[in-house]
Parts: sequence; C-alpha cells; structure tokens
Amino acid sequence: MAALELGANEVLVRILAAPINPADLNVIEGTYGELPSLPCTIGNEGVGVVERVGSSVVGFAAGQTVLPLAFGTWAEQMLVPTEALVALPEGLDPLQAAMLTVNPATAWRMLHDFIPLQPGDWIVQNAANSGVGRAVIQLAKALGLRTLNVVRRAELIGELLQMGADVVVTEDADLRSEASALCGGVLPKLALNAVGGASALNVANALGVGSPHVTYGAMGRQPLKIPNGLLIFKNICFRGFWLRRWKETASLAEVRSTYETLAAYLAAGVLHTPIHRVFPIEEALEAIAEASQEKRTGKVLLRM
Ligand SMILES: NC(=O)c1ccc[n+]([C@@H]2O[C@H](COP(=O)([O-])OP(=O)(O)OC[C@H]3O[C@@H](n4cnc5c(N)ncnc54)[C@H](OP(=O)(O)O)[C@@H]3O)[C@@H](O)[C@H]2O)c1
Repeated sequence: MAALELGANEVLVRILAAPINPADLNVIEGTYGELPSLPCTIGNEGVGVVERVGSSVVGFAAGQTVLPLAFGTWAEQMLVPTEALVALPEGLDPLQAAMLTVNPATAWRMLHDFIPLQPGDWIVQNAANSGVGRAVIQLAKALGLRTLNVVRRAELIGELLQMGADVVVTEDADLRSEASALCGGVLPKLALNAVGGASALNVANALGVGSPHVTYGAMGRQPLKIPNGLLIFKNICFRGFWLRRWKETASLAEVRSTYETLAAYLAAGVLHTPIHRVFPIEEALEAIAEASQEKRTGKVLLRM
C-alpha cells in the first residue's frame, strides 16, 4: 500500500469496516444525483481508528475510534481533515458504528427538521424495513412518537412490530381510507418516502392537513404523480431531504452533536441494523453483487 502524505490539519484513519448502501451502488452505476470525478474511491460511511495526526491537529490522537464524514471509505486507510471527523466513545460494535453516519442520521434529521413533533404524534413511512426505515422506527420509539409502517413483504411485519413499530401494513393497504383507523383516530403529521410512485402517493394520502411529505429515496424508480386535491384541499407540503446537503449547510457543532446523540443511542442499544453478510475488502466485487440482490436480510459490509 502506498504511504499517504499527511497534511498539517489531517488525520490518517485506518478504516475498520464500511457498508455498501444503495447510494454506493447508484454511484457505481452512474445514476446518483451527484457523481464524483474519476478515478475515485467509493464509500460514503464507515468507522476507523486514528493512526497518525498532522502537526496542527488538536482533539484527536492515535488509537481513537472515529467516524470519517468524507467520501472514500472503501479503503484500508484514508486522510480526513479534522472538521470531517467525529470522535466516537470506545466500546461500540465496529460493524454497527460503521452504519451510523448515513441512515440513522437521515432518520434523525427527518424526524426533526420538517415539522415539530410531540410524543404521541404519528408518522408514516414506506420501505420501513430499510436501514433508514428501521432507524426511524427505533428513534421514533425513543422519542415517544408512533409509526405507521409500510413494507412490501408481509413476512417482515412481525419482526418490525417486535422491534418497536406501532403498526405495520403491506403496500396493498389503502392508507387514504385506513390511516385514521390504523392510527387510533388521528392522522400522521409526517410522511417519509424512499420508494416513489404509487407507494409515495399512498403515504401522502395518510397525512393530515398541512403535513410535510419528505422524499429521500427512490428505490422503486417511479416518479410521484401528485393529485391536485392533495395540494388544494389538504395542503400537503412535498419536500425532499439529502443528508449530504444537510452536512454541507449545518454547522460543525450541529453535525457533531447529531452524531454524538446517535452514538449514545447506539451504545444504549436503541439503534441496531441487521447485517446480511460481511466480506473482506479483497472480495469487494462479490460483496457488491450480494448488496445488489433484492430482499436481503440486512446490510452487506466490507471489513478491512
Ligand atoms: N436522501 C438521503 O440523504 C438518503 C440517506 C440514506 C438513504 N437514502 C436512500 O434511502 C433508500 C433506502 O436506503 P437504505 O440504505 O436504508 O436501504 P437498504 O437498507 O438497502 O434497504 C432497501 C429497502 O428498499 C426496499 N426496496 C427495494 N426496492 C424496492 C421497490 N422496488 N419497491 C419498494 N421497496 C423497495 C427494500 O425492501 P425489502 O426490505 O422488501 O427488500 C428495503 O427495505 C435508498 O434509496 C437510499 O439511497 C437517502
């Protein structure tokens, strides 16, 4: 491995593990919203240990476990500027910590940044079995919120209920007519959409007047067609969320505080993401093929 040249404000991080997320696959296939210039190293999140620090670095030291908030984590080592590093408490499961940066943070920000929610309020989401969906269920429960969840596979219902979901239905449920009964007579105040098409419309139809509908993923690769009535009579507010934009616009203090909060939830056992399979990085091509399979039992990770 060629030695990386350490800048004064940089930290050399030895990566321990990194997951393969849908966004990584979209970058590889060239369909992601923003593409890096080539050649590049893939990987949007992971966990590592500080190997060495640059001459001006304060606050980080060799041996510390860190989250690199930078692109290029599918590597044995990477150079990260200190402002893109978050220190983690020791003792976290490295595979779980490797999945903290993207999905739990997306869930946390979406639960906070679109509408004030109070304990007891309902939210509705599709792709509830996804990494983000599970983090939404776990964090919502910790915050006292209630979740109406849509999955495409009925066999997942029991598992998600056991994990803390309040209600789980399959994609064929008609939420326009059923949401109120499912949510004990009230309507959700926030919809989270990672699928698009008819599924995105179904969760929009569950919402109460004036509520935000937030699209953050497009797993079904179908556009959302919005009926006029949802705008005129229900004033549903269609929004989007992209974690990278949040990281670019939030202050460093806010970014670090979000990750410190999520690390505490991970340490407390509130957050947990199922793992489908772990591959050594030497088998990255096999890992990518496995991560591209539909209906996995959890995340595919690379271990360095
Ligand atoms: N905007 C952001 O900042 C942001 C951040 C994080 C993630 N995302 C996006 O969020 C989505 C989920 O990411 P993730 O890492 O949580 O995913 P994941 O854990 O890999 O799970 C993928 C999920 O998508 C579901 N799915 C796949 N194809 C589908 C289809 N055609 N129709 C309905 N559901 C389908 C799967 O259903 P099964 O469980 O039945 O297999 C699974 O629940 C992705 O689109 C990702 O790019 C966006």
